[in-house]
Amino acid sequence: MNNRRVIVKVPASTANLGPGFDTLGMALSLYSWVELSAAERTEFRLYGEQMDGLPKDKSNLIYKVAQLVFNEAGVELPELSISMYSEIPLARGLGSSASAIVGALVAANALIGGPLSDDKLFQMATELEGHPDNVGASIFGGIVVSAWDGKQADYVKIAPHRKLETLVAIPAFQLATEKARHALPKQVSMSDAVFNVGRSSLLVAALASGELNLIGQAMRDRLHQPYRAALIPGMSAILDQATGHGALGAALSGAGPTLIAFVSADCPDKDGLERFLLQTLKQEGIEAETLWLPPCGHGPQITVEDAAKERAVPLMDRIKGEITA
Ligand code: HSE
Repeated sequence: MNNRRVIVKVPASTANLGPGFDTLGMALSLYSWVELSAAERTEFRLYGEQMDGLPKDKSNLIYKVAQLVFNEAGVELPELSISMYSEIPLARGLGSSASAIVGALVAANALIGGPLSDDKLFQMATELEGHPDNVGASIFGGIVVSAWDGKQADYVKIAPHRKLETLVAIPAFQLATEKARHALPKQVSMSDAVFNVGRSSLLVAALASGELNLIGQAMRDRLHQPYRAALIPGMSAILDQATGHGALGAALSGAGPTLIAFVSADCPDKDGLERFLLQTLKQEGIEAETLWLPPCGHGPQITVEDAAKERAVPLMDRIKGEITA
């Protein structure tokens, strides 16, 4: 019998950062927790409203992803006790599904002694999610630049600049990634492609070198945001005007509807920027919540316990001091 009990805390993520569609991601300080142990019979404790309606049987994503890890490692562990809580809002562009996939992969791997490398878990996560941007940020933390050809994902991690802060405005409505991807054209013009190659390259260089003053120009995009604008009323005004209200730059977070502003720690009027985001959305009839979410510099934090010796503490009691949202 496997006696381990594993608790994994996984960061949320923002993808694209404007021009880096399906390529750039950054981990944010908002989290999901997954707890796994071997059991006599599979059982679930899913806490919080984010988990409402999720299956509590072997069709559950966490269960299925854990079994992929065991298969890959040649280990049999068919019955699991699974607990999960997430403070990452669903279908808002903050990587909730990526964090669940990463939580399951990392927890299952730790449960069997960590036979799979982080890179292997990244490959599996990319395949499951269909693009590497959110999962890369959740696995490695920081800013992750990645490219996937359908078989192999390669990446470089950049540590977020110490003065880089992020403000998100999370609209009260959900937007399915599938719907937001469906709004995109099948083909783009050469001039738009060149526009994005330039901006995305400049953004990566600016983030890596700390030339934060270039971010406003570098976050511009022509590949996805213009096509998604109709799904997020107020978005275009925010992207056009955020720098005039003190942001370094602004983008749609992932597939949306959350909007993210990059802000320097030196910004003199952070409250004014926050008001601008909220009022612009409100004028379009959209209620939203703003959160200052520092970039998260690290990937999942893993706790491994001996379940035979250490008493099980319910997941919510264990993490209640850490929940921010
Ligand atoms: N790169 C993805 C997109 C992120 O923009 O559709 C959301 O999953």
